[in-house]
Amino acid sequence: MSLEKFADQVFNQDALDGMKILPDESIDLIVADPPYNLGKDYGNDSDKQESEAFLRWTAEWLNLAISKLKSNGSLYIFTTWRYSPEIFVFLKSKMLMLNEIIWDRKVPSMGGSTRRYSSVHDTIGFFAKSKDHYFDLDSIRIPYDEETKKARSRSIFVGKKWLEVGYNPKDLWSVSRLHRIHAEREDHPTQKPLEIVERMVRASCPENGVVLDPFAGTGTTAVACLLNNRRYITYELNTEYYELVLNRIKRKSSFFLEPPLPTNGDSKKQDNQMPLLF
Ligand SMILES: C[S@@+](CC[C@H](N)C(=O)[O-])C[C@H]1O[C@@H](n2cnc3c(N)ncnc32)[C@H](O)[C@@H]1O
Repeated sequence: MSLEKFADQVFNQDALDGMKILPDESIDLIVADPPYNLGKDYGNDSDKQESEAFLRWTAEWLNLAISKLKSNGSLYIFTTWRYSPEIFVFLKSKMLMLNEIIWDRKVPSMGGSTRRYSSVHDTIGFFAKSKDHYFDLDSIRIPYDEETKKARSRSIFVGKKWLEVGYNPKDLWSVSRLHRIHAEREDHPTQKPLEIVERMVRASCPENGVVLDPFAGTGTTAVACLLNNRRYITYELNTEYYELVLNRIKRKSSFFLEPPLPTNGDSKKQDNQMPLLF
């Protein structure tokens, strides 16, 4: 069956059932943010399993997802220190491990654990199917600030390409978790910041390529794809979240499709017509 039939769609379905019917070796990138098994309430028991059952289930969906990846494809998986050791050992038996990325959630220093250190990061595994994996470094370089540029303005640095194009992102990503004040925030317990997923999509999927996200949540991967001219296939078990994803995608798509706003000074009308960003 052709991948076209599934592209740019969100399915209200168990990812395991959905992924089974995708063509093998057809996906450019997998961005997976599965339940962490920390007991969160997603309206189902997916985050409340016995450890062994959780790891068996993880191996099952990972095996299936990997079979859908192209030979130059790659995979990012969000996890935490609780299960990253087991999950990474499993993935290393199937793929090349490229990075362990630490997402520093920028948690403010207030209270926290009293019998051990407060955990303020998530762990992201970055794996590739082969050494030929797609990776577009230039699309994710970080611009130097003016101060650094000035400090490096001595003649030995002049004309250095890296100063103009920016530096290579490191494996420590400090991006604030989403709070109610953030415009992109939706009503979901574990929504990920777009900034993080956009970086993954730009670096590891060519334009017009297809990204598979088995666990949509609020549809962050789908939105990152829409913003960056990539295609997506994503699944969400919970019907309320599924509806939320559809709405978020609709708002995002209408932002691109709406004709230019009228400039006749009718500001009230303009407000109503202005599509929300997220
Ligand atoms: C960690 S959240 C994903 C959050 C998402 N990355 C975002 O930014 O909004 C995991 C999601 O997977 C969903 N889920 C759990 N088990 C699933 C399954 N078997 N198939 C599809 N979705 C599932 C949960 O309902 C939850 O919304």
